[in-house]
Amino acid sequence: MEMEHQAMNVKKLSETTVALLADHKGLFAMDESISTCNKRFSDAGIPKTEENRRTYRELIIKTTGLNESISGIILYHETIRQSDEAGIPFIKTIEDAGIVPGIKVDIGTEDLAGFLGEKITEGLDGLRYRLKEYARMGARFAKWRAAILIGQEIPSRNCIISNANALARYAALCQECSLVPIVEPEVMMLGSHSSKKCYQVTREVLSTVFEQLYLQNITLESMILKPNMILPGQDSGEKNTAEKIAENTIKCLMECVPPAVPGIAFLSGGQSPREASNRLNAMNQISASNLPWKLTFSFGRALQQTALAIWEGDDLNKVSAQQEIYHRVKCNRAANIGLYSDEMERRD
Ligand code: 13P
Repeated sequence: MEMEHQAMNVKKLSETTVALLADHKGLFAMDESISTCNKRFSDAGIPKTEENRRTYRELIIKTTGLNESISGIILYHETIRQSDEAGIPFIKTIEDAGIVPGIKVDIGTEDLAGFLGEKITEGLDGLRYRLKEYARMGARFAKWRAAILIGQEIPSRNCIISNANALARYAALCQECSLVPIVEPEVMMLGSHSSKKCYQVTREVLSTVFEQLYLQNITLESMILKPNMILPGQDSGEKNTAEKIAENTIKCLMECVPPAVPGIAFLSGGQSPREASNRLNAMNQISASNLPWKLTFSFGRALQQTALAIWEGDDLNKVSAQQEIYHRVKCNRAANIGLYSDEMERRD
């Protein structure tokens, strides 16, 4: 019985992983917490109401043709319980479109006690029971983000180990519940550090994450890594070409990520939508030369930023905002095949 259960578990995890990485598609992160979504609304002059958050998420998931480029959508605990205007649950609309629903399960970052300026991601307490509930609701994968800041004397070794350990414990609980874990250790772009520093820190973070995943007995074949690209700090003044960023990022990943991992889905982390597409494209051009993992996107801001600015909370702008979403996901799917170009951005 136990054996049978185990076998089914592995089969389900494997089916979800294959579906998420199929056909050069990518993931759509629309899992902003209430406070993050409200902040984005504030910046765009949109009233911060639950109904506006619901309407906005409905706009995204009902974008015609989204499933041509998107294999999975990451929801938030408010969103996973919401329905469209006609009362159809979001989960059902997503499943009916042939897209895999997923859920962000960390509960955000807090100050790391005793380590000034560093963060630890919370949410392990009671996680097993929350995962079971999300799985019952239809989620097939989950996401947990660790935020690593670069600054003077940081990140500390303790910050890296503590966050990597939490990621690995989360991943173990996910696989126990047949949810594919998206493991997201984000080395942030905030700050004035060089791309060389980002490389060093990302290398240490990724190696530590895989050491912890190994300790927790994670099935690497049934997870997806969601890392940052190797970028200079946003206040550094350093400029790198897309090719250079692609080369550094792939070199770093090759040093740290075991070939058993089936897929790597990048976060956008504050890059502009076009920068993110260009750099993903450059990486996939290199990857045509046989990398062990598939490379794709799991962008939040780089898919949403321009559409949100078009929508402005006004129903009259809904269709234009959806056309923008359709365009951005299409560009990124093209980038997954190495076929994205500036030409694609011309839409007259
Ligand atoms: P960004 O692409 O905006 O970084 O968001 C991705 C994400 O899911 C962060 O956890």
